[in-house]
Amino acid sequence: MKFECQRLSDPIGVEIFGLNLTKPIDEKIIQDIRRLWLDNNILLFRNIDWTPEQQISFTKNFGKLHIMPQLSSVLPPNLTTHPEIFIVSNIKKNGKPIGFKAAGWGWHSDGEDKHIPNMGSMLYAVDVPNKGGDTGFANTYKSCEALPQEIKKNIVGKRARFSRITMHSINYPSLPPLTRKEKLERPDVWHPIIRTHPETNRECLFIGRWAVEIEGMPADEGRDVIKELTAFTTKDDFIYIHKWKIGDVILWDNRCTQHCAVPYDGEEGMRYLLRTTLEGDLPYYKNKGEKQVCSYLA
Ligand code: OGA
Ligand code: MN
Repeated sequence: MKFECQRLSDPIGVEIFGLNLTKPIDEKIIQDIRRLWLDNNILLFRNIDWTPEQQISFTKNFGKLHIMPQLSSVLPPNLTTHPEIFIVSNIKKNGKPIGFKAAGWGWHSDGEDKHIPNMGSMLYAVDVPNKGGDTGFANTYKSCEALPQEIKKNIVGKRARFSRITMHSINYPSLPPLTRKEKLERPDVWHPIIRTHPETNRECLFIGRWAVEIEGMPADEGRDVIKELTAFTTKDDFIYIHKWKIGDVILWDNRCTQHCAVPYDGEEGMRYLLRTTLEGDLPYYKNKGEKQVCSYLA
């Protein structure tokens, strides 16, 4: 079995054609796909029609699956039959949401606010509106490389504090405040802002919507730098906006990619995406093989 591929956009991504993803795939082909994934940050497959089991099996080719903890008591859990699948949707049944509509609003990488962020994630578009509901992807290798020296020297080897507790009500205004128990479960974490990718050894920018403070900087200066880095990494030069079609599957590498749901009003039609998520490992920054700056819990 051979497949073909084509660049998705200048900044990021590759589309892969000619594979049947509903059946077990040769180890050699998986290695080739992984190489493309590592080199291009995101992979797109089109016209997929598969069951939750098939999505889960295909995702497992890339690592161990992560089961998303329930984000809030007002949201439904993951797919009840398959807890490995997290539901992103604007659909309501009997007045209750069947998934989390605003899961991805604001630039981020999945799990960036956890001690061990997620390695990758895969979204499968079951239903999408005719207009709106796009998703942006930013290549943080490229933004890191293009970062002006005067900004880079200020952050290299430094960590940022990522805080679910501080940012929950700002990033998820539609959800009730975190309970005491939820706060205890989501302690703040410090991650290196420039991160060495553990598989490619390349440097990428690791910042996002849960970052609130920078090591060794006064609070307001840190916040300004975070804003500046976010604006920089999401410049047109580094991003691709995906307009979903039914049957699209995108696998992205959270370690070197930020993504963002483009907010939409939800009146345009139903949006129903199913996400599988991969476990990751502890972020670090390695300077010429010498100095290591690791993440740690606050
Ligand atoms: C996610 C996410 C983006 C979107 O599922 O992790 O960020 O467009 N989704 O819904
Ligand atoms: Mn996300």
